[in-house]
Amino acid sequence: MAILSFHFLLLLLLLGAFSSLPTQAAARGGHDPSGYVGNHGSFSRNLLEDKPRITEEMVYGYMTNPELEVAVHAFGSRCPNISRIYSIGKSVNNFPLWVIEISDKPRQKEAEPAFKFIGNVHGDEPVGREVLMHFANWLCDNYLKDPLATLIVENMHLHILPTMNPDGFALRWRGNANNVDLNRDFPDQFSPFNNDINYRQPETRAIMNWVKQEHFTASASLHGGALVANYPWDGTRDKNKYYYGCPDDKTFQYMASVYSQSHYNMSLSKEFEGGITNGAFWYPIYGGMQDWNYIHGSCFELTLEISDTKWPKAAELPVIWEHNRMSMLNLVASLIKSGIHGRIFAADTGRPISGSVMIKGIDSKVRASRTYGDYHRMLAPGEKYEAVVASMEGFRPKSTRIVLEQEAVNLDFILDPIEPDGQMKLTRNDCGCPCDNDKLFHVQEAHLWLYILVLFVLLILYLLFKRKTASRLLTYRYSPRRPIAV
Ligand SMILES: *[C@@H]1O[C@H](CO)[C@@H](O)[C@H](O)[C@H]1NC(C)=O
Ligand SMILES: [Zn+2]
Repeated sequence: MAILSFHFLLLLLLLGAFSSLPTQAAARGGHDPSGYVGNHGSFSRNLLEDKPRITEEMVYGYMTNPELEVAVHAFGSRCPNISRIYSIGKSVNNFPLWVIEISDKPRQKEAEPAFKFIGNVHGDEPVGREVLMHFANWLCDNYLKDPLATLIVENMHLHILPTMNPDGFALRWRGNANNVDLNRDFPDQFSPFNNDINYRQPETRAIMNWVKQEHFTASASLHGGALVANYPWDGTRDKNKYYYGCPDDKTFQYMASVYSQSHYNMSLSKEFEGGITNGAFWYPIYGGMQDWNYIHGSCFELTLEISDTKWPKAAELPVIWEHNRMSMLNLVASLIKSGIHGRIFAADTGRPISGSVMIKGIDSKVRASRTYGDYHRMLAPGEKYEAVVASMEGFRPKSTRIVLEQEAVNLDFILDPIEPDGQMKLTRNDCGCPCDNDKLFHVQEAHLWLYILVLFVLLILYLLFKRKTASRLLTYRYSPRRPIAV
């Protein structure tokens, strides 16, 4: 027992020593890159300088945490048909991390892409939490009125976490209640010592479990202190500052540009060409949320800096929301309007399978969901992709060539199972017993009549249903995708 606790103490000491390293580093969000002095990850600015006094006057007009909680639930009661309120965990000080899910079928899984928005990662960057509440309410008010709002509500699932760090907000500082910078707390590809989920802060752990549970296609976190759309990688292996693109660099540039070009003036930035930047090119950070999402969740995440000042006067918040409105809408809608989408099926059973999809020349893969076998692969439009490969253990991979123009492509795969001896399964005999052909034929014939009967009943039901919903479908119908099956 004594030895055990001694080891534990030692471990804690070691962890303490290590975790103090990344917190020394500069801040993604509100960090002035001119403060960067040199190599090997040393920065002139530290957390202390990032903590100016936040006065009562600055906070005036911003929602407190209890007020935000009320606003989230008020949204839920105002727009119950297209939303669901749930919590993904609690902060250190036990404040629930409330999420608003927006979709026309908010309580169901569907074969649709999912996007998540996270605000207030840093306690002292409150603009995101306010803007996200504006965003949710705008979607609710404009569903079935505005085409983009309707498109988003009907064709995807949007999850909004207004604050990831309520404690930091209440304490008016950057980190959480333990003063850990949450955007340095994720397992990092270059720091293997922080890979254990049990040593993460509760807020970080909540996000990690959430990403493992939901099947997010893309996401964005909102920060303040600069005006730029930042994309992976955030860190370099040697800790030096240079452009370090991830395998999906082109797609990320496209997504970041969608945000920046749709923004009131982000793309006019003098500091960042086109208003976008590679994270490591700006300044490398380690343990960030963005890289982790891409590596472990196949979730294409951007880090968005949406206002030069961290605490603009509350009266300016509606204007900042307006400046970001089209950006947010277009970024979220890009999950429907671009990329390759489809489902993967097993040829023998006809069931959906959670295979994965890879693009030749891009070293990353996205997984299809378990429930529907649907996958959603973000890709930069206007490119030729030599081979889109779907694979699954126990099945023969299939590949096809795609020219992706401005619109999304629908691409389904039907994979043939491989027999244990490596041969392709050509015919299928479900009996698993030597049944004679004559009997088999009769069984199939009986099935056939049953199928026809069921189809007939379904058809009648469908026609009845269609009559009822025709008016709704007429209001808005979106089907720009080019359907292909392989
Ligand atoms: C964008 O507009 C805001 C508000 O008018 C202004 O404060 C900021 O300096 C502008 N930024 C750029 C890059 O033009
Ligand atoms: Zn930040």
